[in-house]
Amino acid sequence: MLRNKKNKIVVGIVGLGVGAFHLKNSLLNKNTFVKYICDTNETRLQFYKKKFNVPKATKNFNNIVNDKDVNLIIIASNDKDHFNQVSKSLKNNKHVFVEKPMCLTMKDLNTIQKIKKQKPNLYISSNLVLREHPFFKNLFKNKKKLKKIYFLEGDYNYGRLEKLTRGWRGKIKNYSVILGGGIHLLDLVLKLKKKKVKEIYTMSNKIITDKFKNTTDDFAVSLLKFEDNSIAKISSNFSSSTDHHHIFNIYSQKFSYFYKRDKSEQFFRENEKKNKKEIKYKFDNQMKGQILNNFIKAVRTKTKKLITPENELFYLMKICLLMVKSHKKNKIIKL
Ligand SMILES: NC(=O)c1ccc[n+]([C@@H]2O[C@H](COP(=O)([O-])OP(=O)(O)OC[C@H]3O[C@@H](n4cnc5c(N)ncnc54)[C@H](O)[C@@H]3O)[C@@H](O)[C@H]2O)c1
Repeated sequence: MLRNKKNKIVVGIVGLGVGAFHLKNSLLNKNTFVKYICDTNETRLQFYKKKFNVPKATKNFNNIVNDKDVNLIIIASNDKDHFNQVSKSLKNNKHVFVEKPMCLTMKDLNTIQKIKKQKPNLYISSNLVLREHPFFKNLFKNKKKLKKIYFLEGDYNYGRLEKLTRGWRGKIKNYSVILGGGIHLLDLVLKLKKKKVKEIYTMSNKIITDKFKNTTDDFAVSLLKFEDNSIAKISSNFSSSTDHHHIFNIYSQKFSYFYKRDKSEQFFRENEKKNKKEIKYKFDNQMKGQILNNFIKAVRTKTKKLITPENELFYLMKICLLMVKSHKKNKIIKL
């Protein structure tokens, strides 16, 4: 699968968990040449190097960022390393596709924005996969139907608690279930509303993982009020005894839309007299890969048509970090 780098976007991929998925997609994309993979785990690194015949495998991120050939860095390392890797990449003139969350503090977000301002020709985006789900794509397309959305609710039901209690998520400073999970639902809320948030309040608890003294709260719920007085509720539910799934409900003047699972129970209804309309959508890995393909296309053609443009990404991060701040300070944040 190895291809010549001539006329291709030269890519380095950091972190080979979900990053292995980006690796496969980059190898399938005819406009990219994967020069590097990087992982601090030697076994994983060598496994993928051998499997896909990648020219360079390194444990040291600096080898990628200092290579002048590299145009695009895909960052899928632990959350705590995103800030350093994003800022170094931008400073070294690399386009950046970073897994969510882009960073863990407001200070770091401000720094990234400052660096980015000095690099207007670089692209940065994030892997907010639900934007490509056909249910939401359809909603975004038909947004005009949704007049006066007054309430939205999104639940991120993780169902993979051991990743918090036993993996890196439970060990890093500033880890937050909001930045790790609720961010996906917040992103859909902000995209649908297209209004500014004016108030935020978050409550959280740690009832289910109370035995794990050093881990963060495993459940958080945030309320957001928008400038048009509509309200959204987002829960980041890492303690759910469920499979991994999301719930998303939208209430507007005439229509209500309900999204319950990846594969079933998606429907909308107008009122009691009319039947609810069920819509079933397929959402597979190929569709999820479109976010990265779109990014590569934007970099290649220098168009601004990103699925997640930079301004939306930065605003999402800001609101997400304020949701975390509200939880830490236990107070309503007014913007
Ligand atoms: N967009 C999504 O839907 C989605 C889904 C899953 C994970 N993620 C994000 O992807 C990132 C990785 O999560 P994961 O589930 O793949 O974790 P993971 O633990 O499965 O994989 C991370 C890999 O990165 C390596 N790594 C960590 N820090 C590194 C560093 N500084 N340099 C090089 N390699 C490093 C680890 O050794 C590991 O192999 C996280 O930021 C997570 O939030 C996003």
